[in-house]
Amino acid sequence: MYKIEKLNDQGQGITYINNKITFVDKAIPGDEVDLKVIKESKKYNIAIPSSIIVKSADRVDEFCPYYNKCGGCQLQNMLYDNTINYKVEKVKNILKKFANININVNVIKSDITTNYRNKITLKIKNKKIGLYEYNSNDLIEINECFIAHNAINDFIKVINNFNINNGEIVIRCNYNNELLINIISNDKITMPEFDNLKIVGIIHNNKLIYGEDHFMELVNNKFFEVSYDSFFQVNRDITSKIFDYIRNNILKEKNVLDLYCGVGTLGINVADISNKVYGIEIVENAVLNAIKNSKINKIDNTKYMLGSAQKIIDKIDDNIDVVIVDPPRSGLTNHEIDIIKEKNVDQIIYVSCDPITLSRDLKILNSNYNIKDITLFDMFPYTYHVETVSILERK
Ligand SMILES: C[S@@+](CC[C@H](N)C(=O)[O-])C[C@H]1O[C@@H](n2cnc3c(N)ncnc32)[C@H](O)[C@@H]1O
Repeated sequence: MYKIEKLNDQGQGITYINNKITFVDKAIPGDEVDLKVIKESKKYNIAIPSSIIVKSADRVDEFCPYYNKCGGCQLQNMLYDNTINYKVEKVKNILKKFANININVNVIKSDITTNYRNKITLKIKNKKIGLYEYNSNDLIEINECFIAHNAINDFIKVINNFNINNGEIVIRCNYNNELLINIISNDKITMPEFDNLKIVGIIHNNKLIYGEDHFMELVNNKFFEVSYDSFFQVNRDITSKIFDYIRNNILKEKNVLDLYCGVGTLGINVADISNKVYGIEIVENAVLNAIKNSKINKIDNTKYMLGSAQKIIDKIDDNIDVVIVDPPRSGLTNHEIDIIKEKNVDQIIYVSCDPITLSRDLKILNSNYNIKDITLFDMFPYTYHVETVSILERK
């Protein structure tokens, strides 16, 4: 029997088998478990509990019947507030470990903790539809995902009617429960009837086969056109809170660069209190969405540039006072950081979904910038994933 001591950064329990660190999926501190090792390497084991002999006092029942096998959620067996405490400590530890930064991390919880996701990607293997099991490419068949919106779950029940044997299907749902479907599959698909579903568009291998290739999203009274291949945050409640937080903290009447701008959300959110907003984004449809979104929201001080942030950042010949940056997990490139420093930017608002690359970048920026605040926004309840917004001010 092994006692789980704490959680690692991926939400797995940590114990030791003959002094070798062992990561135990779906086990929480205080649990005493028998283990089945599913992967052994020189330095560590990965295991799953074969039985829980003593349940941690903090353990709660999961709300999803697939939870114990599915690789999607990690923390459903903890109270929501305990998952938040875990995430705050995780961010603080990573900042300390990778950047030697000791700082208080504030937190904004999600008001909606189940059925919050507006997008899921399902795998289809031999007509079976589901998500991958933890640490494997084996499919766990599902007909409902308890962290996805109900409209998405209604759609899951009709996927079989498309006759897809193998492939992937991305289901997105907007504020109005309308659906945008993206199918990636070499199979010839059939178009079923969808009686009660509000389907805006279906795309098959980048080709529009039904309706439109985009839908509208709504956050804090602002509408955003979102194409099937453009990024949009998965939790609208938390996105709204991030909008408020950025509006409340940004320096006003400044030239703003919205780096990695997607469909223009974060820049458009502050355009009316800014002098000028520049946006840079690599996905063409997202840039087209951003241009349209400025018009839809009656904003005329934005300018968008298509291309890699690393290259396009050199093309801005105006002064920049504020950078809002929301990169993918890889974080910022050294060149982008150099240009931000060269331009003597007064304020950086760094939205991050990866605390390790955030720490790496803050370590470099630390010599020129003070960290005024770091707030964790719980974009992904009951998973180990974290979203943070940091406000930096020039020294
Ligand atoms: C985390 S999303 C943020 C989007 C937007 N700020 C939002 O909140 O909806 C990151 C964005 O960066 C874009 N991206 C990825 N790599 C890029 C690159 N090298 N240069 C510019 N944009 C990139 C992605 O297409 C995506 O839209």
